[in-house]
Amino acid sequence: MKPVNLQTNNRINPLGIDDPVPRLTWNCAGGIKQQAYRVSATDDTGEVLFDSGCVTSDSMNCRYGGKALQSGQRVYWHVILWDENGEEAAEEEAWFEMGLLNSEDRKAQWICGIGTDTKKRLPADCFRKAFSLKGSVVKARLYATACGVYSAVLNGRRLPGVLAPGTTEYIKRLYYQTYDVTELLEKENILDFAVGDGWFKGKLGFLNRECRFGRQLKLWAQLVLTYADGSREVIASDYSWRWCNDGPILRTDLKDGETYDARKVPSYSAKAQLTQHPVVPAASPSDGILEQEVFAPKLLTTPSGAKILDFGQNIAGYIRFTAHWKSGHTIRLRMFEALDEGEYSDMTLRKAPDKESEIKQEIVYTASGKAEVFQPEFFYSGFRYALVEGLEEVNPDDFEAVAVYSALRFTGRFHCSNEKINQFVQNTLWSLKDNFVDVPTDCPQREKSGWDGDAQVFIRTASYLADDAAFFRKWLRDVRDCQRADGRVANVSPSAHPNQDKEPLGGSVGWADAAVIIPYTLWKFYGDEAIIAENYTLMRGWMDYVIKAAQNKTLKRIAFFPPLNKLLRPYYVPKSPYEKYVIESGMHWGEWLEPDIDSTTQMMQPKPEIAAAYTRYSMRLLSEMLDVLGKTEEANTCRQFSEGARKAYNHYFVKDGRIQAPRQAPMVRALALGLLDEQTAHKVAADLNQSAIDRNYTVGTGFLSTPFVLGVLTQYGYVETAYKMMENTAAPGWLAMVEQGATTVWEVYHAYNEQGHPKCSSMNHYSPGAVCQWLFECVAGIQVFGENRFRISPVPGGSLTYAEAGYHSPYGLVESSWKKTGSGIQYAFFVPANTTAEVVLPNGESKLLHAGRHVLEQKQH
Ligand code: BGC
Repeated sequence: MKPVNLQTNNRINPLGIDDPVPRLTWNCAGGIKQQAYRVSATDDTGEVLFDSGCVTSDSMNCRYGGKALQSGQRVYWHVILWDENGEEAAEEEAWFEMGLLNSEDRKAQWICGIGTDTKKRLPADCFRKAFSLKGSVVKARLYATACGVYSAVLNGRRLPGVLAPGTTEYIKRLYYQTYDVTELLEKENILDFAVGDGWFKGKLGFLNRECRFGRQLKLWAQLVLTYADGSREVIASDYSWRWCNDGPILRTDLKDGETYDARKVPSYSAKAQLTQHPVVPAASPSDGILEQEVFAPKLLTTPSGAKILDFGQNIAGYIRFTAHWKSGHTIRLRMFEALDEGEYSDMTLRKAPDKESEIKQEIVYTASGKAEVFQPEFFYSGFRYALVEGLEEVNPDDFEAVAVYSALRFTGRFHCSNEKINQFVQNTLWSLKDNFVDVPTDCPQREKSGWDGDAQVFIRTASYLADDAAFFRKWLRDVRDCQRADGRVANVSPSAHPNQDKEPLGGSVGWADAAVIIPYTLWKFYGDEAIIAENYTLMRGWMDYVIKAAQNKTLKRIAFFPPLNKLLRPYYVPKSPYEKYVIESGMHWGEWLEPDIDSTTQMMQPKPEIAAAYTRYSMRLLSEMLDVLGKTEEANTCRQFSEGARKAYNHYFVKDGRIQAPRQAPMVRALALGLLDEQTAHKVAADLNQSAIDRNYTVGTGFLSTPFVLGVLTQYGYVETAYKMMENTAAPGWLAMVEQGATTVWEVYHAYNEQGHPKCSSMNHYSPGAVCQWLFECVAGIQVFGENRFRISPVPGGSLTYAEAGYHSPYGLVESSWKKTGSGIQYAFFVPANTTAEVVLPNGESKLLHAGRHVLEQKQH
C-alpha cells in the first residue's frame, strides 16, 4: 500500500495560500487497510515543521499542525503508511507554498490611470515597470490582483490564467494570484499589465448594468525576488510604474467582447497614480480560470452567402486566430449558439423574443499588416458558431475555439448501452465546464451570474462529475459576502447590480436554501467538517430569517415597483397551530420552468407549499451539522422547527393521502424531502408514477424537483417508469435535447419553436442536467456513506444491457458496473484500498466488500 493523490485543501501543490492550517489528504493504492499514518512536513532547508507522529487511524487526511507558517514559505509534506500487515509503505511528496500572510509583507500600493474615474467605458489600462536584477535570483514570485480583470506579461511571456483575479464582491473581497516567474527573469526586465473592465466595471447579470463595483480600474502587484545570497527585493506597484490607455484593446466587456486595433502600441507615456481600495487582497483559494480544450471549426456557407465557423461543441470561451491581413483591415466575429434556418441568430442572447440583444459577443479586430496570433484578453462568450464578417475568403485553419473554465479535476464517468444517455451525460459535463467560470453561473452567454437556485439543484451531480470542493468553498464565501443583514441569501452572488439588496426575490424559498444544502452536500461528499464551521453564520442567518418570516404574518408583500403589488394574489394558509411554520408572503422563483406552467406569473405569488417543504428539509440538514459543531441547543431548535414544518406540510398540503396540488413537482418534493409518513409516501409515489404514465413519460418537474424525480420513483419501486422517463426522446425530456442535436444542456426542453427557429432561452444551462445524479447514485448505485465507506446499490432497468460508472471520491476511485447476460445480471465492483462498500443488489442480497475487484452474479428466475 502506498499514499497517492496527495492534495492540500483539495488542490495539487498550490502556490500562494494563506490558510494557516491547511488540510492534507491522500488516497491509498494497493493493500486493504491503512492501520496508521505519519505526516511530516519540512521547509526548503529540510527543517522539520510538523510531525504528526505515528497515528493509529485509517483516516486519509490530517490538518497541518506544526510551526507557524511564514510568508512565501514552501512546505514539503510526506505521508508514511502502515498497512494491514504493519508493512511500512513508500512515501510520496507534495508541497504547498504560503502567500503573503502579514501586512508588512504586502508592499504593493493600488495604482490607476489618469482621468479614468468615469462611467465611460475606456480602452484597457496598460501598466509597465522596468527593473534590473542585482544578482542571481533563486526564487521569484509575482502576486497580483486588480479591480477589473488583468493579464500579466513578463519579458514578453504572458503568465498563465484567464480573467484573473476572477469574480468576487470586490468591495468586500479581492484575491491575488501567485505566479512562479523565476525562470522568466533576465538581467533587464519588463513587467507589463493590462487591465480591462470585466465583472468590476462591465455589463453584469440579467440587466446588463455597468459599473457595479466602481468606475475606476486599479492594479495591485508585487514581485518578490530572493537572491542567491538570501537577500530579498520587492518590486511593488507604486507611482514609479508607467501607465497609458492608448494600447490595442480599445473596448472590452465580458459580454460584448473586444475591439482590438493591432496597429496600436502602448506608449506608457504617463506615470501611474496612487489610489485606494478598501479591501486587503487575500490569497486566491482556487487555481483560477484556465484555457482548456481547443476546437477546430468547419466552414459553413449560409443560404444568404454568409460565412460561419461551426466548432461542433457549445462552449464558454473565445476564438483564437492567426491574423495575416493588410494593415487597417478589420474583421468581425460574432459568436452565437444556434443557427436559424442556417443563418446567424442572436436569439439565445436576448431577454425577450421581441427585444434586440443588448449583448454583442463579438470580436472586432483591425490588422497591423504583421502576422500574429490573436485572442481576446478580457472576454468570454457562450457559443458554438461564429459569423465571420470582413473576409472574402475564410480559411478555417486560421481559427480555433478555446474553452475556458475553472481549474477542475473531473472525477465521474458514466457509460451505458444507450448512446443518447451517454451523449446527455457529456452534454451535462460540458454545461458544467461552461458554467464553472470562477463561480457557478446559470449560463455563459446571457447572464454569466452566480444564481443560488441553479447551483443548489446541481450540486450533487456536479460533485460526482468534478472535484468541486475548492470551487464551491470559494463561491460560498461570495454567498456569505452577499448575505443581507436580515439573513436573506442573495439570488446572485457575487452581486450583479447595485440594488441587489432590495431585490424582492432575494431569499426565495428553495433557492436561498442553497446556503444550507450546498455546505451539507460538500460535507457529505468530502467529509471535511471545516465546511460546516466556515458556513455557520451563513446557515444560521438564513434559518433565523426563515423562522422570523414564517412567524411574522404581518410581513408586507413586495414587488420590483409598487404597481406590481396589486398583481400579487393574497395567499394565507388558514389559521392553525401550524401556520407559524409556513412562510406565506413575498415573491419566490418557486419550482421555476416547470413545463406547462407560466413561471413568470407564478413567481409573483407566495409559495407556502415549497416554503414548508424546504423549511423542513433545510432545518433537518442544519440540525445534523449543528450537532457536529457541538451546538446541541441550536440543533434542537432546528429539529423542532423542522418537525413543525413537516406537520404543517401534512396539515395544509396533504389530504387523504394525496398531495393537494396534483402536479409532479410537489409529489416529488414531498417524497424527496422526507415530508410524508410511510403509508402516505407509498400512495403519493403511486400517484407520481401514474402522473408520469399520463404524461407519456415526459418530464413534469422544474428546477427544484428535477434532481429528485427519478430517484424517488426508483426508491418506491417504479424503476421502469424512471427508466422510461430517462430514455424518452420526446419533449419535455432530457434526451429530447440530444435528439435535437444539443451538445450542452438547455434551459428549456424545446430550444426551437414550432417553425424551427431558436427560442429566446439559453442553450447552456446545467439545471436540467441535475438528473445525472440518478445515473451515478441509482443506475450505478454509487454513494459515499461516511468516511472510507460506500454504499453501492445498482438498479438495472429500461432498455439498457449494461451500465458502468466510476467516481474518483475523496477516498479513492470506486467503480460499479452491471451487464445483462443470458442467464441474469453480472455485477462488477471496484472498492478502493482502505475502504469498504456495502453492496445491495436489487433482489435484496447484501454484502460487505473490502478493497479490490469483485464480481457478483444474479441469476434470473
Ligand atoms: C436564469 C436562471 C435563474 C433565473 C431565476 C434566469 O434568468 O438564467 O437560471 O435561476 O433567472 O429564476
